Amino acid sequence: METLLWKKVNDPAEIDGSIKEAAALLQEKQVVAFPTETVYGLGADATEEEAVQRIFEAKGRPSDNPLIVHVADRRQVEELVSEIPPMARQLMDQFWPGPLTLVLNSNGTAAENVTAGLSTIGVRMPDHPLALTLLRVAGKPLAAPSANRSGRPSPTTADHVYQDLDGRIAGILDGGPTGVGLESTVIDCTTEVPIILRPGGITKEDLEEVLPQVMIDPALANEKEKPKSPGMKYTHYAPESPLWLIDGKDEFFMRQLDQLKVDGKRVGVIASDELADQMDHQPLIRCGSRTQLRQVAERLYGALREFKKSDVDVILCESFPEKGVGAAIMNRLNKAAVKKIQTC
Ligand code: TXA
Ligand code: MG
Repeated sequence: METLLWKKVNDPAEIDGSIKEAAALLQEKQVVAFPTETVYGLGADATEEEAVQRIFEAKGRPSDNPLIVHVADRRQVEELVSEIPPMARQLMDQFWPGPLTLVLNSNGTAAENVTAGLSTIGVRMPDHPLALTLLRVAGKPLAAPSANRSGRPSPTTADHVYQDLDGRIAGILDGGPTGVGLESTVIDCTTEVPIILRPGGITKEDLEEVLPQVMIDPALANEKEKPKSPGMKYTHYAPESPLWLIDGKDEFFMRQLDQLKVDGKRVGVIASDELADQMDHQPLIRCGSRTQLRQVAERLYGALREFKKSDVDVILCESFPEKGVGAAIMNRLNKAAVKKIQTC
């Protein structure tokens, strides 16, 4: 299949020929990638089983992993769920459009494969002019997982989508790089106390300003527990070369790096500016200051895609503080890593 590429960087909200063409393809049950404020999504009509099936095929995604449905307005949510509890309304008021996915009880309107057989459905309103325009013109809620091949880091540019899915999908709307850089926070609102199933762009601290109590799925802290969100059990975000996550002081990181070099390994480094300033090593990717974790989040997936198998044997990456968006950064890095090395 030929994958069409539409550049739409200047005025993303304008309803031009590319939006119309993309929306028409969606109405014909094809899949189209589009930017959101978090990462690029791979969209298809959430009410059509055949369209949704194409997402699973293009990504190579396991069929028991449900998709997030993107909406342009609350009316579309009402059409998909059996009820919107008051706390979910509060969260929508505060954080929509934005990087927060609410898990609610489904009313069965979405295609069955969207929810992978669950009685609940994840919904979110993205905070991106291009995504919202596409949703409005298509006139359908769009199921959209991240637009990467399953297991790979999520795409934060149209080029990342192209690398993974060229020839496998109908088109890619290029709206430039995404802002948040990590996926939305997924919160289960079907329980009395809401539960964070996946940390993301909206932090636990943000949620606690609105809700009296928020829980975190225990599986996020303990690898032996079964996660409540099916997607959290899969290998994820893997770069081409094995990633080792180093947890310790900067000197400890430097010692690990030196040892690998002595062993003749070609090492790629992903580091904060503070750590990078202390070393004279190549190849190295800086992902921003430790004190500006939003910047680290924005650059992380790009960094994970940067090192090619042919260039490095190992990627060494530093650990970041688990405060604020740091919780989401470390959640992704722990999944991406094949090895974790801590100072004793
Ligand atoms: O920021 C994002 O959320 C991006 C953009 C494109 O919107 N999308 C995204 O989708 O990250 P995906 O499919 O890569 O991740 C969806 C996550 C998975 O972990 C999935 O298991 C979980 O959300 N999920 C979806 N529906 C669920 C449900 N009904 N109950 C529990 N978890 C659900
Ligand atoms: Mg994903």
